[in-house]
Parts: sequence; structure tokens; C-alpha cells
Amino acid sequence: MIADEFKEEIEEALVLLQKQGKLSAGDLPEVEVEVPEIPEHGDYSTNIALRLSKLTEQSPQETAHLIAGALKHPVQVAQPGFLNMSVSLDRLAVEMAEILKQKERYGKGSESKKIVVEYSSPNIAKRFGIGHLRSTIIGQAIYNLFSFQGNRTIGDNHLGDWGTQFGALIYQIERVLEGKSDSERKHFLLNLSVEEMERLYTEFHLQAENNEKLRDDARAAFKRLEDGDTSTREIWEASRRISLKEFDEIYSLLGVRIDHALGEAFFEKDLTGIIEEVQKKGIAKESQGALIVEFEDMPPAMLRKSDGASTYFTRDLATARYRLKKWEPDFVVIETGAEQSLHFRQVFRTVELLGWAKEEGFFHVGHGLYRTKEGKFSTRRGKTVQLKEVLEDAIERAEEIIEGSATGGLDEYEKKEVARMVGIGGVKYNDLVQHPRKDIVFEWDRILNLRGNSAAYIQYTHARCQSILGKARTPRSSSYKDISPAETSLLRILQGFPLQARLASQRFSPNLMCSYAFSLAQAYNHFYQQHRVLEAESKEAKDFRLCLTAATAQILKTSLSLLGIEAPERM
Ligand code: ARG
Repeated sequence: MIADEFKEEIEEALVLLQKQGKLSAGDLPEVEVEVPEIPEHGDYSTNIALRLSKLTEQSPQETAHLIAGALKHPVQVAQPGFLNMSVSLDRLAVEMAEILKQKERYGKGSESKKIVVEYSSPNIAKRFGIGHLRSTIIGQAIYNLFSFQGNRTIGDNHLGDWGTQFGALIYQIERVLEGKSDSERKHFLLNLSVEEMERLYTEFHLQAENNEKLRDDARAAFKRLEDGDTSTREIWEASRRISLKEFDEIYSLLGVRIDHALGEAFFEKDLTGIIEEVQKKGIAKESQGALIVEFEDMPPAMLRKSDGASTYFTRDLATARYRLKKWEPDFVVIETGAEQSLHFRQVFRTVELLGWAKEEGFFHVGHGLYRTKEGKFSTRRGKTVQLKEVLEDAIERAEEIIEGSATGGLDEYEKKEVARMVGIGGVKYNDLVQHPRKDIVFEWDRILNLRGNSAAYIQYTHARCQSILGKARTPRSSSYKDISPAETSLLRILQGFPLQARLASQRFSPNLMCSYAFSLAQAYNHFYQQHRVLEAESKEAKDFRLCLTAATAQILKTSLSLLGIEAPERM
């Protein structure tokens, strides 16, 4: 990518200047290349002269001029010592041809790390909630971005399928099943729904509020599950199976597939060993019958409860150790609600205290809350809102919009497909367009706005490109020289794609990919207002604009696919 070429050229110049004795010898800081906020400052810029001047006696300006003089390509020196570079028109044309040649491979990175990304991770026996929707969407985008950089990425859906809360559910179900025959029992467990399980669970909590005995009974039920009691296990298995079936419907609507779904229960067998190891290494401490881990700068974490039950914390230690052993990842990224950030800091620190891996190899990406104007979701179907209904609602609304703005020519099947892509894409984009940590607002008008910063706008621009491309043959490249400002700025944005994709992955920020795709779509529409493509003034101009259109379509499509959003050919 051009950013890397710029970086390498500067690095070579620095080494040369050192050899010539014009720059003091010593370790050179890493050259960092950024995209200036203001387009007038060029396509790329670096602050290397400012950083070097701290090591040498020279002023940043002097250092900047010194470096500029040693480079093959012209660069601008800007106050107080930035080096700015603009990519030449010739080079922009070469890059456009590269896009047409490499197609969906254009911009792919050559990193070769192994990365575990944990995302989605819903809790069984509960409905798939909005928080898990966010984790699924953001985690999938981060997964895609890492993979696009050439890394081997391993996705893991860490199902919440274990924990004392299952004691309550099991206790409730056992009460319902009391005195029932074997076949009645089977029938009940076969026909249980997630909604019913959630109801039973809530009911338990209402009753248990002032009832210590009931809470003890639930604890005992969980103990039986932990001890492997068959009939308890049967109930747990049924609730897991039923939940996964419902979750799968959501994943399939979302078009999401996660490589592994190990879940908390999977680690149950490792917990005793983990606790022993923590104790042996002298990190565990007894406290009122429970076992805890203390930290200098954080509250303690609970390793084992006073009743002997295992904890979420210990299961996460087991999970970390398993991942380290099984995949030997360069790093692990976990996407959950931001409220779990302390928990993960405790886990990551303990992993380091145990000597398993460095804390720096673990990242928690925490997402903010989902807000709606009314405080909660509204769909057309009534009060108890299921996530599946929200997604179906999105598709239905998208269908109406497509109907209304009909570019025509879509048959019924295509219309349904496009509505699905636009509806689901809209929900995803709305989630990704802001930095994960921020709260987001759910507003239908915004999600499906064909004119605003939305998936639909970008998808529509892509389809517009495809419709033009369907009417003519696109040449492989063009040597057209009479390029307008609108065309130049489109070319400039196109060449920026590889770096933007890399930054989005490095910073765990799919939102950077959203803003990139949006500005590319805007630049294309701006160009399209000013220029005729198919009826251009000359054959050269037409060929060039077809190339530009094809390159834009490709990059819009790649950008959307990194976000997990499909790009219909027609809309
Ligand atoms: N199931 C958990 C929840 O819904 C999220 C799991 C997060 N991942 C982890 N490794 N603990 O709160």
C-alpha cells in the first residue's frame, strides 16, 4: 500500500542521513504514517521530524527539510515539522487499475498472526438480548477485519451455559415435573421454549426474594448438576439444546457463523485444577470461607464461593488457559458489554500472575448500551419484543422502502432478498457506525435512511454503480489525463482503502470502515452529479469513468463485506 511505501522511503532516508552523519546516530523511532484530517494537507503525513528533533539538537523544521531533501518523491514540509505527501495523479491511476485487477483481494494485508476473537456469547435459557446482538455484530466485524489483514482468526462463541443461576431454573422445572410420568417429562422437556424458561426463572426470583430456603434449594439443585446427577443434567441439556436452536435462527437471519461455541460448561472439568494451581502459586487467599485473588489496584476477584461453587472468574481463567494451549494465539480479543471491563482486567492480570501469558496479549472490547427513543424496542407486533421480531421488522420496513423508491425491474424473489440485505445491513451498520464503546440509538428512520449515513445509502450507491456497469464494457485501465477535481478526490479516497482497513483492524474500530465507506459513497455521488459516464464527452472520458465506477463498486462492496453487510447488485 502507498502508506507503507512512503514509510519505507522515509526509513531508508533516515538510515542514509545517519550514515552521512547528518542525523545523530542511535536508535531511530518508528515512522508512523497517518491520514491528515484536512485534505489540503495531502494524502499521508508523518510527525517523524518532530519526534527526531527531540533526539537531535535540530529544530523540527530543520529536521523535516533535511528528510525531505533525502527523499525521491516530493513532500511538503508543514508547521511545526510535519512531512505531507500527496500521491501523484499517475500513481492514483495505477492504484485504480490495481483495484480492477485484484478485485476483492485489493487491500488485503500480509500479517500472519493468530488471533482469537470471542463474541456473541449469549446466555442459554434466556432470550437473545440486545447486548448480545451488539457483541455479535461488532465481534464479527472485528473478526473480518483481522482476517482481511492476513491473520488466522479464530472465532469463539463463549456461551453462558453454566453457573449458579441454572440452579434456579432446574429447581423450577423440577417442581413442574414433580409426579409426572416419564413420557410426560420427555414431552415437557421437548416442548420447552426459551420464553418459558425465562418466565420460570423470573418467577423464581420473585418468590426467592425473601425466602432463604428457596435460595438454598436452588443452590442444592446446581450442586446436583455440578455433581453430574443424570436427571438434573437432562434438564440442563434440554435447556441448552432449545436455546441454541433459537439462537441459530438469529444467527442465520444475521448471516453470522462462529467457528467454535465452547461455552462455560465446557471448562467445568478444568476448574479444580485451576484452583489448585492458583493456590500453589500463592495467589489465592482464604476470605470468609471463600477463595479470592487480591490485586493492588483492583477489588478482589472470587475464585470459589464459600459454598464451594465455582465462579464466572474461574471459568474465565480456565477459558484463557485453554485458548493459550489450544491455539497459541498472538493475542485474544473479547467483545462484551462494557460493564464487564473490571472482570476482564482481573482475569487478564491473573493470567499474567500465573505466568501463563502477558496481560498485554488480551484485549477487552466493551460496547455501550442500546437506547431507543421510547426506552425500549418497539415493533409492530406488540409488547414482549423478541430480537427476531426486531430483525424481521427491519426486513419488512426495508421492503416498503424498496417498493417506494423502486428502480424497477426486481422480481418478487429479488425484492425479498434485497429487503433482507438492506434491513439486516441497516441494523448492523447502525451498530457499527460509532465507536463500540459509545451508546447507540435505535431509530428506524435513521437505520433505513437512503440519504443519510446508513447501510442503505452505501448499498444504493453500490447498486447504482452496478447498474451503470451493466450497460457497458469496462476496460481494464485507462490513460485518460483530463481529470476533474471531483474525479481526483474520488481516486484519492479509493487509494486510501488499504490503510483505512488496516487502521480499523489495529484499533478494533469497525466505525472507521463505516466512515470510510460513507465518504467513498458520497464522493461517488458527488462525481456522478457532475459527470456523465455512459454519455461522456469522449470515449476516453467514458472509459476512465467506467473504470472509476467499477473501482468504487468494488471497494464499497469490500468495505461492506468487512462489516458483515451484503451489497445487492440491484436495488
Ligand atoms: N455470557 C456472558 C454474558 O452474557 C458473556 C460472556 C463473556 N465472555 C467471557 N469470556 N466471560 O454476560
